[in-house]
Amino acid sequence: MFAPSSLTGSKPEQYAQLTAQAQALVHGEPDRIANAANLAALIFHSLASLNWAGFYFFDGRELVVGPFQGLPACVRIPLDKGVCGAAASTRQSQRIADVHAFAGHIACDSASRSELVIPLIKAGRLVGVLDLDSPTIGRFSEADQAGLEQLVAIFLELTDC
Ligand code: SME
Repeated sequence: MFAPSSLTGSKPEQYAQLTAQAQALVHGEPDRIANAANLAALIFHSLASLNWAGFYFFDGRELVVGPFQGLPACVRIPLDKGVCGAAASTRQSQRIADVHAFAGHIACDSASRSELVIPLIKAGRLVGVLDLDSPTIGRFSEADQAGLEQLVAIFLELTDC
């Protein structure tokens, strides 16, 4: 049984604990869906003030929703649409303090007010994105972005994708 332990200390310390838990969860398991599902659950239950956390995978044309926690979401996102599309097409993390001020934001859950999207790039290839939504404006700091980029790196390193 897995019991998420509460994170303590500074943000970097908290993310060091979270990435250690992530590593333990996916270690020895190469399946993409299994690891994405467990990481979405770990993130959603470990970080405060989230209303959605999960993965979109690139099918060669657009982003298709993968394992997540939160309300049912938009199934397909073209690369020229939304915060997820921006992260995928620019291959840069998108940290949006107020989604209402982001032209083209796709409102899957009307509660979402800020968003962090990390692109998944493996060996130069777009695999998808990790998307986190919060009902709080400005929820995500640089430290959150750095910590979640580290977690994505673990996912990409240990998973067949
Ligand atoms: N808000 C995202 C769409 C995905 S949902 O938030 C789960 C976007 O603008 O790309």
